[in-house]
Amino acid sequence: MQVLRVPRVPCAWVLLLPFLLLIATPAAHGASYKPVIVVHGLFDSSYSFRHLLEYINETHPGTVVTVLDLFDGRESLRPLWEQVQGFQEAVKPIMEKAPQGVHLLCYSQGGLVCRALLSVMEEHNVDSFISLSSPQMGQYGDTDYLKWLFPTSMRSNLYRICYSPWGQEFSICNYWHDPHHDDLYLNASSFLALINGERDHPNATAWRKNFLRVGHLVLIGGPDDGVITPWQSSFFGFYDANETVLEMEEQLVYLRDSFGLKTLLARGAIVRCPMAGISHTNWHSNRTLYDTCIEPWLS
Ligand SMILES: *[C@@H]1O[C@H](CO)[C@@H](O)[C@H](O)[C@H]1NC(C)=O
Ligand SMILES: *[C@@H]1O[C@H](CO)[C@@H](O)[C@H](O)[C@H]1NC(C)=O
Ligand SMILES: *[C@@H]1O[C@H](CO)[C@@H](O)[C@H](O)[C@H]1NC(C)=O
Ligand SMILES: *[C@@H]1O[C@H](CO)[C@@H](O)[C@H](O)[C@H]1NC(C)=O
Ligand SMILES: *[C@@H]1O[C@H](CO)[C@@H](O)[C@H](O)[C@H]1NC(C)=O
Repeated sequence: MQVLRVPRVPCAWVLLLPFLLLIATPAAHGASYKPVIVVHGLFDSSYSFRHLLEYINETHPGTVVTVLDLFDGRESLRPLWEQVQGFQEAVKPIMEKAPQGVHLLCYSQGGLVCRALLSVMEEHNVDSFISLSSPQMGQYGDTDYLKWLFPTSMRSNLYRICYSPWGQEFSICNYWHDPHHDDLYLNASSFLALINGERDHPNATAWRKNFLRVGHLVLIGGPDDGVITPWQSSFFGFYDANETVLEMEEQLVYLRDSFGLKTLLARGAIVRCPMAGISHTNWHSNRTLYDTCIEPWLS
């Protein structure tokens, strides 16, 4: 885990362990910003966020930013519930030390880990949950990742693997959403169908209540992403059985308010920030995007 305290006046740099970097500072004067916790995506690690850290340092000096170095690289293929458990233990102490609340910024697959955290953590104090190009309604697209992992599968037949108990041992199958096999998805998805409240479970009411503690849900994505398919999944849109994209407001999970989306929208708590011209691996290094869609929500 990398703990980065970004100083207004840099004072002392203490390198503790290869994986624990602490930049200590005296308390800065002026506005104090809520701590920011960053969760990375598939085959990714904290290194990808170096530009973002610079932007935050520059625009909100004194902000404590923690980029969680857990489940890096291939470990990010571990089942998502296992990752949620690990990340929960890491974010808990940060939240406890921040009575004024924290911000969660989560990229790609990490956005699903974070949404699950908001559902299962009873006492979370997340002000802004920033979902950075994250397949919130699932993924149904051929990508290099898929070809690498399941070389003989295509998106049309991957459901055979993903909707089996064996397949659900891989993170990407936890949010594989085949619009042509809805019944299998609902029955087999041990992650997405649960956090979406699409399949009933004893904790659904409690999870919904927990999720609704969030201050703002900031959704970021765009048509040139190239990986998230359909790209509207970053905004809770998804394919119907004809592969026509239905927007969030047309989705059953929204209409039934099964995990709180409709309530959040009615409260004015959902911010949608679509950005064209950004490919999947550029979301954390684009300054225009940062200024427009992220910085305003890191108060
Ligand atoms: C933060 O910004 C200051 C200058 O404004 C710079 O000296 C310092 O190295 C930066 N720290 C990081 C971690 O980027
Ligand atoms: C689910 O509910 C049970 C019983 O109400 C509770 O013990 C458990 O902690 C809950 N789990 C989660 C992840 O919320
Ligand atoms: C649903 O899943 C259970 C086990 O998880 C399996 O026994 C059952 O056959 C599945 N039903 C359908 C319709 O796929
Ligand atoms: C899909 O398209 C067919 C033919 O255009 C139509 O009859 C059917 O109602 C559509 N299904 C959905 C779910 O929109
Ligand atoms: C950054 O974002 C802007 C606005 O969407 C876009 O026009 C530009 O091409 C992006 N730059 C990169 C390097 O992705």
